[in-house]
Amino acid sequence: MGKYDLNPRLIERPPLYPRRHEDRISGALQRLQTGEWTRLEGAPDTEAALQAYHGGGEIWYVASGTAAIQSLLLGHGIGPGDEVITTAYTWGATVSAVLSVGAIPVFADILPDVPLLDPESVRENITPNTKAILAVHLFGFPCDMRSLRGVADEAGLFLFEDGSQSHGATLNGKRVGRFGHGAAFSCMALKPLAGTEGGYAVFEDSTAAERAYLHGKHPRGLNPDRLAQWEDSRYLDALQLAMRPCAIGAELVKAGLASLDEENAARRENARYLRGLLADLPGVDLDPEPDSSAPVYHLLSIRLDPDRIAPEEALIRLQDTGLGAFLYIPTPLHQLPRMNWAAYDGPPVFWHAYLRESGIDYQAQSLPNTEARSRETFQLGWNWIEPNPVAMQQIRNVLGLL
Ligand SMILES: Cc1ncc(COP(=O)(O)O)c(C=O)c1O
Repeated sequence: MGKYDLNPRLIERPPLYPRRHEDRISGALQRLQTGEWTRLEGAPDTEAALQAYHGGGEIWYVASGTAAIQSLLLGHGIGPGDEVITTAYTWGATVSAVLSVGAIPVFADILPDVPLLDPESVRENITPNTKAILAVHLFGFPCDMRSLRGVADEAGLFLFEDGSQSHGATLNGKRVGRFGHGAAFSCMALKPLAGTEGGYAVFEDSTAAERAYLHGKHPRGLNPDRLAQWEDSRYLDALQLAMRPCAIGAELVKAGLASLDEENAARRENARYLRGLLADLPGVDLDPEPDSSAPVYHLLSIRLDPDRIAPEEALIRLQDTGLGAFLYIPTPLHQLPRMNWAAYDGPPVFWHAYLRESGIDYQAQSLPNTEARSRETFQLGWNWIEPNPVAMQQIRNVLGLL
């Protein structure tokens, strides 16, 4: 019996993340040394590199993933009273971005086996006020974009992707980000494509991109030739939400593209190896990979047999093992107190005016798969960006404690 079987602890550590190799940081250093980080023209080189990576689209590199989602919504004219169907099993910013433009998040359920929107549930939630579907490729797993596109097209809706955890994930060999009318990605420091803080939007329609600029770009930051061609440019004024990106972070993102696919492949390889090792551990399961996909594994989600152990209990047992397990979404978003405008008695929340007007009642809603996932899973950070079978064996041994 090896020492990990007697006293399971994670001895191996994930590589430093994000990578800090010389070739990764030289562009950022140069910006600092030359003072070019003070320039306000945005990040055209990074946008060009992202456009090449995504095989087209109009890219706008902005301050955050949240700003990228806001820009998609604003650019497509989505605002007060418009309903956006999305998931309650996501990072809160997906939904706060919707609330921030006055739109109403409507929650469809997720599928039973993966943390991704169920296209049938999306269809059932369409009303005359629905304007868009916002699909989230959570934990690096791509949603079923073909079915979602079918639902969107049938009802004449926009389809957007929140790819903040899934840069480089593919479906049928095509990278996420260009399956709908637009996509948003976060590039904050822990994401698969990491800057300092930052994010970017991918637009398929240049008019929508320009309308987004109206809200988030100062006229001084726009190229005069481009302005001359833009029909609505006379409306551009000083009333901007600051979506301006950090030039240093943009350099890190541009450099990070060079190793993104390789890092993603290692994340995947490690997860698949661990999946094999877990086969003999009953009641501890990884989500199945969606059909025809190459997921990214931003986080690794572990599902526990609810008859055996609750995640909170599992985390207590695992706390001294070095595994770094946590509950990523302990409460699905539709159950958060600040969504419950009717019973809320805390400090004022601006979006309640819109929710009250729409009459939506999140408390009355039941999302069985979403709620079950919050009760039955916990997550691990998954920055295993180099293949490491030894670490996977140690993780297996630690999970054997459950
Ligand atoms: C799914 C998802 N959407 C949106 C965001 C918001 O991105 P940011 O924090 O860069 O605003 C994040 C991450 O933080 C995220 O994970």
